[in-house]
Amino acid sequence: MYSVIRKFLFLFSAERVHYFVMNMLKFVCDIGFFKKILSKIFTLNNSSLEREFFGLHFKNPVGLGAGFDKNALYLRELEALGFGFVEIGTVTPLPQSGNEKPRLFRLPKDNALINRMGFNNDGVEIIRKRLEAWHNYKPQTTNYKLIIGGNIGKNKITPNENAWKDYEICFNGLFDYVDYFVVNVSSPNTPGLRELQEKDSLRKILSHLQTINAAKPKRKPLLLKIAPDLTKEQLDDIIELSFEVKLDGLVATNTTIGREFLKTNADKIKKIGAGGLSGKPLMERSTEVLAPDTGFSFTSALKSPISISPLIIRALAAGTNISTRKTAINSAFTMFFLLNIFFISLLFFVKLKNKPLMRAILFAYDISLFRVCEGN
Ligand SMILES: Cc1cc2nc3c(=O)[nH]c(=O)nc-3n(C[C@H](O)[C@H](O)[C@H](O)COP(=O)(O)O)c2cc1C
Repeated sequence: MYSVIRKFLFLFSAERVHYFVMNMLKFVCDIGFFKKILSKIFTLNNSSLEREFFGLHFKNPVGLGAGFDKNALYLRELEALGFGFVEIGTVTPLPQSGNEKPRLFRLPKDNALINRMGFNNDGVEIIRKRLEAWHNYKPQTTNYKLIIGGNIGKNKITPNENAWKDYEICFNGLFDYVDYFVVNVSSPNTPGLRELQEKDSLRKILSHLQTINAAKPKRKPLLLKIAPDLTKEQLDDIIELSFEVKLDGLVATNTTIGREFLKTNADKIKKIGAGGLSGKPLMERSTEVLAPDTGFSFTSALKSPISISPLIIRALAAGTNISTRKTAINSAFTMFFLLNIFFISLLFFVKLKNKPLMRAILFAYDISLFRVCEGN
């Protein structure tokens, strides 16, 4: 079943499918009964999975790396899926729309992705408010504390010499609402960012944050996210600096700019262009970077094959009581079903031979199903 749904979803742009699936999950979790079922299926309450790191208690060691929920929109849903922690961001001081689309590409033959998102996010103010709302909601879920990491970065327009100010704004902005911080200087998609991995630039940012941190009534763990493309000397410099500024840990690793040993056709890779490669081909290198005693991985791919019509979300937006919801769900399902039949018949009609026409139909289908879900 999953392979069929996957094939279907792979007909559409990866970024849209991401929002589509997550918004479907949001819809499911809006209905308390379904959320409970999801939590029951995915949450493992087993004390052998619990971990203690830098003073934080993790329910389990499987978490979601930065970039999946950049804007802290899906914490409740990711909690229901059983994650031990979620790293939100990368958050920048000002909102950013990121790079031009398309900017996320699948490499199915390699079980990999290439992305050049460019820190698209709602900015620290909006994200802080969302986290505040989550913080207030959390007491209801007393038996399960989801650890939240705040991954922070700089805006594209901020020159590197002023980068420390951006990190400070994000650090202060999120301080009350995240459990730990990750300083991201390793994304390949913000021009010049990775130059901040150089020892002196890094020292300035990290020691400044640690000074602010030490002045707080209770400091927060501070980690640094590093690129997999560092040389051994650069890595040694970073480790030395980590001890010097008393970092709590390193997050290894961000995406790579390397393209070695891929099974995907070289022309396709060339056509995709710049971006960071993640997934299976990165595993070996990021494992090399990890010290054997670092414990757990900070990233984990989440594949959620849930597919329900976004029309339901739209219909439910107006429905507040149960009977209205029921009617809304019924009519939305019917509309979704009919819409699917319509497009599948159309595709069948053109027999997949007329490529431009087929593309037009898929495009229309894509718009009608996914546009409503994007950006929330
Ligand atoms: C679409 C996408 C967006 C990402 N955005 C961020 C980001 O904003 N900040 C960050 O530190 N890492 C980001 N990452 C990197 C991931 O957090 C992770 O470090 C990387 O994908 C390597 O791990 P993986 O191979 O397990 O996916 C992103 C990755 C992907 C695929």
